[in-house]
Amino acid sequence: MGRSQAGLRQRIFAWALARFNARYERFAAEYKQRLFRDLTGTVLEIGPGTGANLRYLNAEVRWIGLEPNPYMHSYLHQEANRPGIPIEIKTSIGDDLPLGDESVDAVISTLVLCCVKNQQRALQEVLRVLKPGGRLLFIEHVAAPAGSRLRRMQNLVTPLWKQLGDGCYPNRETGAELERAGFENVKYERIIAPLVIVSPQIVGVATKAASRKGLDARHIASERATRQGNFS
Ligand SMILES: C[S@@+](CC[C@H](N)C(=O)[O-])C[C@H]1O[C@@H](n2cnc3c(N)ncnc32)[C@H](O)[C@@H]1O
Repeated sequence: MGRSQAGLRQRIFAWALARFNARYERFAAEYKQRLFRDLTGTVLEIGPGTGANLRYLNAEVRWIGLEPNPYMHSYLHQEANRPGIPIEIKTSIGDDLPLGDESVDAVISTLVLCCVKNQQRALQEVLRVLKPGGRLLFIEHVAAPAGSRLRRMQNLVTPLWKQLGDGCYPNRETGAELERAGFENVKYERIIAPLVIVSPQIVGVATKAASRKGLDARHIASERATRQGNFS
């Protein structure tokens, strides 16, 4: 794809996200309030898009956004003006975070792990930049159960969906990837969003071990049965 064609797609994607996400945001509001209400310190958001999550943050947080699509940036500035949050935007991707080790208190990812080039690489980067005991707060759409009609649909539309959705895969097993990434604890709830194709979603928290001992135990922990349930 030529650079100008890629730029046009990014521009249209940014406009469409700003224009058409209101219904989804009304649905997601209660989950976002629960997820983000007690955030403090330095918060990194990967792929913040047009800034739909900024309204849930209190003005004391130091917010850094990694948004590779430059056409999202003006929307981010507009959104940040409302709660008066000072923001710092970097035009880079979640697969390679331009931040120091153990430098952030929390990472936010909503509808982004579907787009990163390599989920395990992105999650290792999240673990690297999180302080011990830091948390990844996420809402992500995921693959429907194997063998279901919806899963067959997701598989069928993936090539076109990726083109139209700026690299988004509708059929990723993101819950399983989070569980094997090496967090000390991964808790999430399955929800059904009022969307086509990407309605199955997970909302939850993945916590990095608070100590070296916990870090060493993380692989044992990740072998254990999936911890699912209420994330708060
Ligand atoms: C579906 S939008 C979600 C936007 C926002 N998080 C939300 O919930 O409204 C996906 C976002 O991820 C960004 N993105 C795509 N690939 C990325 C990558 N590799 N690393 C970080 N962000 C990425 C896109 O530019 C876009 O802003």
